[in-house]
Amino acid sequence: MKRIALIGYMGSGKTTVGRALAKELQLPFYDLDWYIESRMRKKVSQIFAERGEDGFRQIERNMLHEVAEFEDVVISCGGGTPCFFDNMDYLNSQAQVVYLKATPEVLLKHLLMGKGDRPLLKGKTPEELILFIREQLEWRDAFYTKARYTLDVSLMDNYEKIVITISQLKQLLGI
Ligand code: S3P
Repeated sequence: MKRIALIGYMGSGKTTVGRALAKELQLPFYDLDWYIESRMRKKVSQIFAERGEDGFRQIERNMLHEVAEFEDVVISCGGGTPCFFDNMDYLNSQAQVVYLKATPEVLLKHLLMGKGDRPLLKGKTPEELILFIREQLEWRDAFYTKARYTLDVSLMDNYEKIVITISQLKQLLGI
């Protein structure tokens, strides 16, 4: 049974890499944010607006406990998922967890390119964003680095590099 979970900050490429890895391994792919949105019939941003971050984290935790029971899947978590409650220990007990690590500068670049609807980043200028990312990584890294595996994805900025990342990931996971 294979259950692989990808964690990392927003903009680290969890969804892109997760989808590609799942395709390569011919396994179903679950993105936790998308799962939450389909179960709740609401966008993540709407949940944040209606219930605040605490409300979202509670839902996220509950949905994580559903998704991380599925067998033979690749899961990409939300950037904050490992950093609340006992989610990181739970993830480690359920899956082969990989931390996709990137520098704040690379994360910023990806986030400025992406059109993702991210409530925590809304309304921030690039200058504010880089400070916010650095500040968050300072405490989030302690959770992320509890992953069994870490893959540096700082160089992953085009399709060829994604392909390389997938092969590195397979090597890391021994599959
Ligand atoms: C969050 C990351 C988002 C989403 C929510 C909160 C975070 O997921 O879960 O906006 O706290 O880092 P992505 O990392 O997929 O953008």
